Amino acid sequence: MDLASHRFISYFDAPEAQQLCDLAVVEQFTDQSIIFEEGEDPSFLYLVLEGQVEFKKQASLNQYQTVAVAKANDFFGEFGVLDGQPRSARAMAAGKIKLAKISRPHLMEILSNAKGKVILNLFSYIIHHLRVTTNQYVNQLVRKEKMELVGEMVNTILHDFRSPFTGIQLSSAMLKEMHPDEETEEWCDLISMQIQRMLGMAEEVLEFAKGSTVLYRRPVYVAKMLEHFEKLNRVYFQSTQVEFSVKADDDCIIYVDENKLIRVFQNLVGNAVEAFEKPGGKIVITTSKTPGWVTIAIADNGPGIPEAIREHLFDAFVTYGKRSGTGLGTAIAKSIIDAHGGKIEFKSIAHEGTTFYILLPETQPQEMLEEVAEEVKLH
Ligand SMILES: Nc1ncnc2c1ncn2[C@@H]1O[C@H](COP(=O)(O)OP(=O)(O)O)[C@@H](O)[C@H]1O
Ligand SMILES: [Mg+2]
Repeated sequence: MDLASHRFISYFDAPEAQQLCDLAVVEQFTDQSIIFEEGEDPSFLYLVLEGQVEFKKQASLNQYQTVAVAKANDFFGEFGVLDGQPRSARAMAAGKIKLAKISRPHLMEILSNAKGKVILNLFSYIIHHLRVTTNQYVNQLVRKEKMELVGEMVNTILHDFRSPFTGIQLSSAMLKEMHPDEETEEWCDLISMQIQRMLGMAEEVLEFAKGSTVLYRRPVYVAKMLEHFEKLNRVYFQSTQVEFSVKADDDCIIYVDENKLIRVFQNLVGNAVEAFEKPGGKIVITTSKTPGWVTIAIADNGPGIPEAIREHLFDAFVTYGKRSGTGLGTAIAKSIIDAHGGKIEFKSIAHEGTTFYILLPETQPQEMLEEVAEEVKLH
């Protein structure tokens, strides 16, 4: 954008605006260049003409956290210019940028003669930014506290459930021994798998709250994995009267942590089942390949994802219309897919249905090892 039409310049009457344009020095910065450092004395106000600037605070020795951004038509550095205090964060170019800078003494002189209207405009801009930043900060803090609470709760529950779970496991193993017929054996295996699954689910929430997990990757046939998933849920689909089908490419292999991926399906399919408002619910899982990616689509003919939460669906604690919703299902699903280097997206139409697309990077057979454990961050 051109300097004369910048928001900051437009606060002033024509002669002062012209004066500011004459005084301003336009400068270009390359990606990652530092405009000013935290703690530096303030000497300029900056108007963003092109690109984006990020403000970062040092979180630990080598780690910086972005606390705010400024885009074209925004300005920054006004706090230091007004009160003379050192810069409170580092300003860094995110990509190529163009700025106009006005020196502190010049600006102070023009401002001290400026009309009330100018000061009012300036103040409302500053207050707006303070609000946005404070809101972000409070949201982050609340999220962190909730996460810690969830972690503590699940830990307690898990602790109490371990011994009854072991009891059920042992009983089903004994039943299997006492009645070695095929049908009993199958039911007992199912009981045992479901217990494993419950433990797995609780551990998954715990890992998500902790922020890191270990992926155990190995080559997996998508069709076989989905068959296993169907088996685990057969009784659930029958009792909820949901028609479930899979159309998977038989020789499609992915390199993933199967247990974690099954939990992604569980979360997404579980949501679809819970969303059906009338009989006739159908869920179809299909697989397809595009260069570099394997896509698994999970489609339902339900009511669609409520408009109000679509934008933030994958954020933790976003839930809608459920009495016992935690808002963690899709957040966990996304964190697992991200950890695999994949992507998750969805399309949803009210009264028609929702489709989630899971895209996993294609792995060449020679890159697939028997099994690798890899520690990954979850958010
Ligand atoms: N397939 C779907 N159809 C309709 N709504 C859905 C679907 N999947 C998710 N949702 C909506 O998204 C919300 C968030 O889901 P999720 O993150 O799993 O949390 P929770 O299920 O605990 O509410 C749900 O409460 C529901 O309103
Ligand atoms: Mg859910």
